[in-house]
Amino acid sequence: MNKNIALIGFMGTGKSRVGRELSKRLGMAFIETDSLIVERAGKPIAEIFKQDGEKEFRRLESEVVKEASNIKDAVISCGGGVVLNASSVESLRRSSVLFLLTASSEVILERITRDGESRPLLNVQDRMKKINSLMEFRKTFYLKAADHVINTTDLELDQVVNNIIELLKDKV
Ligand code: S3P
Repeated sequence: MNKNIALIGFMGTGKSRVGRELSKRLGMAFIETDSLIVERAGKPIAEIFKQDGEKEFRRLESEVVKEASNIKDAVISCGGGVVLNASSVESLRRSSVLFLLTASSEVILERITRDGESRPLLNVQDRMKKINSLMEFRKTFYLKAADHVINTTDLELDQVVNNIIELLKDKV
């Protein structure tokens, strides 16, 4: 592959699990923007949001996305809000084929409840309402950035990975 593979999409659409598996199958490196941010800040995402605010989180995020884009032969799993920053999208598009993973809000809520990871933006009373409003606001950002869209609502992990590999065949 002469390009990286970037996975974008809302929280709970499976970017990390899919990315990890995909990188194994293709013998590519696996990078998660969230992990790079945590490493750089020296604290968990929830703490960054709490102590430094979302703005600082987004600043760190745009930094690590640029760096990740310069790495070769990598599958990059992006945090759900990466698409909100135009220059991050630009650097990803220059270096990567972008796959947008989507899922219904019901499945998203189920998955994020199950994986138990802390997501400060969904730390609210009515999570379903928040998921729907965030998704609605971000929809055009996601679609505009993506080369391919995969709806993961009814798919198993392997099916998503196979779909991506199929779609990549045209590009190699
Ligand atoms: C965010 C998504 C999270 C993480 C942060 C903000 C978002 O990553 O970057 O909590 O704005 O959608 P995941 O999409 O991996 O959950």
